[in-house]
Amino acid sequence: MAAGGDTGDRLLRHWYALCRSRDLGHRAPLPVRLFGRRLVAFRGEGGRPAALHDRCVHRQAPLSAGRVCAARLQCPYHGWAYDGSGRVVQVPALGPGQVPEGLRVASLPCVEQDGLVWTWPGEGEPDRPPPRVPTCDEPGWTRFIMKTRFRGTVEACLENFLDCPHATFVHRGWFRSPTGVPVTARVTSLPDGAQAEYFGEPRRRSVIWAMFSPPGGTMQHVDRFIAPATSRVDYVFPNGLAYNITSTCSPVEGDAIEVYTVMSFRFRGLGPLVRLFFEPLSRWIIRQDVRMLDRVADNRAADAAAGAPPARSTEADLLGESIWRWRAALARGEPPPAAGAVRDVRLVL
Ligand code: FES
Ligand SMILES: [Fe+2]
Repeated sequence: MAAGGDTGDRLLRHWYALCRSRDLGHRAPLPVRLFGRRLVAFRGEGGRPAALHDRCVHRQAPLSAGRVCAARLQCPYHGWAYDGSGRVVQVPALGPGQVPEGLRVASLPCVEQDGLVWTWPGEGEPDRPPPRVPTCDEPGWTRFIMKTRFRGTVEACLENFLDCPHATFVHRGWFRSPTGVPVTARVTSLPDGAQAEYFGEPRRRSVIWAMFSPPGGTMQHVDRFIAPATSRVDYVFPNGLAYNITSTCSPVEGDAIEVYTVMSFRFRGLGPLVRLFFEPLSRWIIRQDVRMLDRVADNRAADAAAGAPPARSTEADLLGESIWRWRAALARGEPPPAAGAVRDVRLVL
């Protein structure tokens, strides 16, 4: 599919989440927008996911208004049927087996992995698999996937997901509360992004900490940016409980970003029971972020019109710079930041 090649935007040459696996049934097609394009997803041969341009080659009717019959997507207007590769395999008005050569609609590569359907919106063949959700191959984890619409930029979303200081304010009492305790974070640039590992991190006075771990003992906490659009947060507590939050951002159009968040947690044998509380709590916390980024987006839009100065950062904004530099380099077709740089940062949480 011709997409993005003329702009040289290498941000398109990556996998993006199209929908959750459970959103894609076997009968109804699913309209999806990605990078401003109208797409339709459906399950083709063998239940494999497929993504096509949402426009019939006959008279441009939206295929997403049609239906899926025998793993083929049927246009609602004159019934032309498409297979998962986008080829027209039936033209009802011509009779059985009579299909002119070369009729097809553009299709995008699709992969179903870790509870998500991924697609590759850029030119060329995918040269790597989509990012993994690390807990999906391990037993003992309970998982659920949230789909959340944010307003803003992918950069702003990713930084928010990987930014501890905001949690003491936006999620005060729920996820963190200010403790005034100094913490060391080691920030490392990686071949596919960057990570921040925390040492001596306080955990008290929040619903999440009370749920997972009492104070004392050493907690492991690593935040990771995986270019271009994924974040990963891992906590392992001294009592063996753990959780992982993997979020991936799919630009819809304009300033709308669809964020797919795979929440995984290990809670001995009680995972399904804990989920009854943890899932609504997680949705509540992510809505706090949505509201804050909404305000930020409003302000940025007003600032853009007024020509306001750029945002300022400090050392405590651990991964923001890596996110910005990586994504800017990809967008311009330049080499990304080099791996191997390490710095220790002191911040107060
Ligand atoms: S517009 Fe799709 S079959 Fe005619
Ligand atoms: Fe947050």
